[in-house]
Amino acid sequence: MNTNKASTVSLSALTTLLSASFVATFFSANISMATEPYDADKYGPQEPIIWATPSKSIFTHKTHTMDAGLACDDCHDGIFPMEQGATEKNGDFTMKSFKEGKYCGTCHDGSTAFESSTQCGSCHFAPEAPIVFTSPVKAVAFDHSIHLQKGKLACETCHKEVFAMKKGSIEEAEQANLSDGDKRKYLEQLHNKYCGTCHDSSQAFGYLTRCTVCHIGVKGYDAQQSGTQKKDKDTVKTNH
Ligand code: HEC
Ligand code: HEC
Ligand code: HEC
Ligand code: HEC
Ligand code: HEC
Ligand code: HEC
Repeated sequence: MNTNKASTVSLSALTTLLSASFVATFFSANISMATEPYDADKYGPQEPIIWATPSKSIFTHKTHTMDAGLACDDCHDGIFPMEQGATEKNGDFTMKSFKEGKYCGTCHDGSTAFESSTQCGSCHFAPEAPIVFTSPVKAVAFDHSIHLQKGKLACETCHKEVFAMKKGSIEEAEQANLSDGDKRKYLEQLHNKYCGTCHDSSQAFGYLTRCTVCHIGVKGYDAQQSGTQKKDKDTVKTNH
């Protein structure tokens, strides 16, 4: 190995780096002089407003005032009081109201701004931890990140029709006292109606083929709760 050459290269690399960083410092000084600091009097509070219930959502003043060019009185106080949390107290700060043209829906109607029944993910957060259904059978795991990243699905693919955006909507689907034949039919309907809308062997693996990928079972559940879950094999027995 030619160490001499190597050191020459690294020296000249260092020189380049140094001059680059000098240039960068020089320019960033200029840039920081050119960029005005965020002016809260002009554009509203810098901190985003976050609602935690019933669903977590976010509003930022900057995107509406500085970026979209809206004035304070486009919203205050006709649509929103200038007080964080005040609107929630009205009891109708909901998607339904938006659809009727109230609150965020005054503008998010598909003409002034994107419609509130689209792009859920612009305003809402997907849960990071997997959702584990524990009833009627324990346990079925649903992981948002797999669906968003590997599946590349938009929120509204599921949340417009298939699932309510709240935990427990499947579990609320009660099973009546059924005969064996009806039970099979019921099970098929249950799967078809929810996860099976995609897990049909064409858009995603079929629910009839790999029960235990979803049904992680009591063992999988316990492992998940203790944070040591391993990938279940299709041969793992479930409790049904
Ligand atoms: C697109 C609508 C919109 C515009 C435009 C807007 N705001 Fe707001 N503002 C909101 C919403 C929504 C809230 C939260 C209200 C609530 O939680 O009930 C809020 C809350 C506030 C609050 C209270 C923050 C707190 O922590 O209590 C202040 C102050 C405020 N806005 C100032 C401004 C100013 C100043 C402007 C203009 C530069 C402005 N807003 C423009 C929607 C808007
Ligand atoms: C006075 C009209 C108005 C109201 C009321 C309003 N918005 Fe907007 N919003 C806009 C406009 C205009 C844009 C930019 C155009 C677009 O993205 O369609 C925008 C853009 C956005 C964006 C995208 C910004 C980004 O990050 O790129 C989000 C998120 C958003 N609004 C959330 C909300 C929420 C939440 C509310 C209610 C609390 C709300 N808006 C109320 C007019 C409004
Ligand atoms: C423009 C921003 C915006 C978009 C887009 C949006 N939401 Fe919302 N959503 C909100 C705000 C603000 C609230 C009220 C405060 C809260 O609960 O976070 C809310 C509340 C909710 C709630 C609880 C209250 C209720 O209405 O039942 C659900 C569920 C919900 N949104 C689902 C959705 C789904 C599903 C989509 C996409 C189809 C969506 N949202 C798109 C802003 C938005
Ligand atoms: C492949 C389908 C699918 C997609 C895509 C999806 N979700 Fe979900 N989501 C679900 C299911 C299933 C549940 C649980 C519903 C239940 O328990 O009945 C859920 C529940 C939720 C909940 C409620 C969590 C709780 O603890 O109550 C929120 C919030 C949510 N999703 C937000 C989002 C957001 C935001 C996106 C897009 C970034 C998204 N989801 C994309 C299927 C999906
Ligand atoms: C909107 C379509 C859609 C819905 C609804 C849906 N999935 Fe998926 N799912 C996908 C896609 C796409 C993939 C990634 C491709 C694949 O693995 O076949 C995926 C992957 C998965 C994986 C990962 C498989 C692996 O190989 O790691 C599991 C587990 C899963 N889904 C469970 C569920 C459960 C449980 C439900 C119902 C609560 C559900 N899915 C609902 C589309 C969906
Ligand atoms: C794509 C995910 C997925 C796959 C694959 C899947 N299931 Fe399910 N299954 C669910 C969900 C979600 C529920 C409802 C939540 C719960 O019971 O915990 C459920 C519920 C059930 C129930 C309970 C229904 C009730 O009301 O008592 C049985 C039994 C069941 N599944 C059997 C199976 C069998 C057998 C297979 C394989 C042939 C299978 N599932 C494959 C997601 C799946």
